[in-house]
Amino acid sequence: MEELTLGVATMDETHADFLRQLDAVKQATGSAFIEGFAALVEHTEAHFAMEEEMMRSLAFYGQQEHLDEHETLLSEMRYFLQKARKLPPFGRSYIDDYAYEKFRRHIINIDSQLAMFLKSLETEAAHG
Ligand SMILES: [Fe+2]
Ligand SMILES: [Fe+2]
Repeated sequence: MEELTLGVATMDETHADFLRQLDAVKQATGSAFIEGFAALVEHTEAHFAMEEEMMRSLAFYGQQEHLDEHETLLSEMRYFLQKARKLPPFGRSYIDDYAYEKFRRHIINIDSQLAMFLKSLETEAAHG
């Protein structure tokens, strides 16, 4: 889990929260599974909105690619949640086998670019 740390506190805390919630959903059964899954989708909506707000306000050069990936990840999650409400095993395989890898890749490939950009701004500000 250490490899997922980007060095930007707001992002790292949000990602750690996500991974904790994901673990909780993995442990959950019955209606708690669906409720936890729904809470994970809400958490992800807030998580992505936070990053998107930072990118917009700082006119981050890579924002379009990042926005597109958020859109893809969220629609996929919502799709599996909807399916899981009717057929829980469907959501189970997404949560157990896919979600971590999807988010890990997003953090390493995409969030890392935003983090690097944010850190470069901090460095510039620090050196006036
Ligand atoms: Fe993120
Ligand atoms: Fe992101």
